[in-house]
Amino acid sequence: MAPTSVPPAKEALPRHVAIIMDGNGRWARKRHLPRAAGHVAGVAAVRAVVRAAVDIGLENLTLYAFSSENWKRPHPEVSHLMGLFRAYFREDVTELAERNVHMRIIGNRSRAADDILAMIEDGERRTSVNTGLNLTFAFDYGAQEEIAAAAREMAREAARGELDPEIVTPQYFATRLLTHGIPDPDLVIRTSGERRLSNFLLWQSAYAEFAFVDTLWPDFSRAEFFEVLQAYALRERRFGTVAPEAVA
Ligand code: IPE
Ligand code: IPE
Ligand code: MG
Repeated sequence: MAPTSVPPAKEALPRHVAIIMDGNGRWARKRHLPRAAGHVAGVAAVRAVVRAAVDIGLENLTLYAFSSENWKRPHPEVSHLMGLFRAYFREDVTELAERNVHMRIIGNRSRAADDILAMIEDGERRTSVNTGLNLTFAFDYGAQEEIAAAAREMAREAARGELDPEIVTPQYFATRLLTHGIPDPDLVIRTSGERRLSNFLLWQSAYAEFAFVDTLWPDFSRAEFFEVLQAYALRERRFGTVAPEAVA
């Protein structure tokens, strides 16, 4: 498909796009640069995609920024990434606030440095009244732990007699997850050619469409984002039923 910078019409947009931003390290290696340079270039791609999402009026964008498993990377890489998060929240929250973006994070919220958590909370507060793009960063996020934590908390409440186990339907369960209030993703994009979820939004992606693209995250552009959205607009989603024209 030829690159196009035309987004689909607003009514053909997914309500929620979630992106697994992968391939920074390989982008750097291809250029004989340290992995850190790939992460720096990755931040520029974050800015481009967030601006594109605001420009087209997307409702919800979730970006997988750091997984709970990413703490297992070598310490210098983890601290460089933390420095980039610090700089991003310091430099970008004002623009997000001005562009009517409501930002928040989903994730552990206890293991990152206090100053980063404080900046995140400040950004969440400053943008909480905004009515434009809901921008969620999955930061120190792992879906299995999210689901286990919800189950653990409900089990505690049930043991105390505060929760009737009979009310625990899938709809109720979803309200106990970190994403409550955010619609499930319609489209999950992963860059860099890997075809796995890596512990991202496991519950919420039950009926998502998937787009796996070979582009490494730092090269993922506004034009390619629109191309993926155009391709999504052509898909037929069935949710277990049959298409009306297929009914005999
Ligand atoms: C994604 O790029 C960024 C984070 C996971 C934080 P990677 O760092 O995973 O890049 P590759 O997969 O090694 O190329
Ligand atoms: C997933 O990418 C996490 C983020 C994009 C933040 P990884 O590069 O960490 O995933 P694996 O290890 O290849 O599955
Ligand atoms: Mg990776």
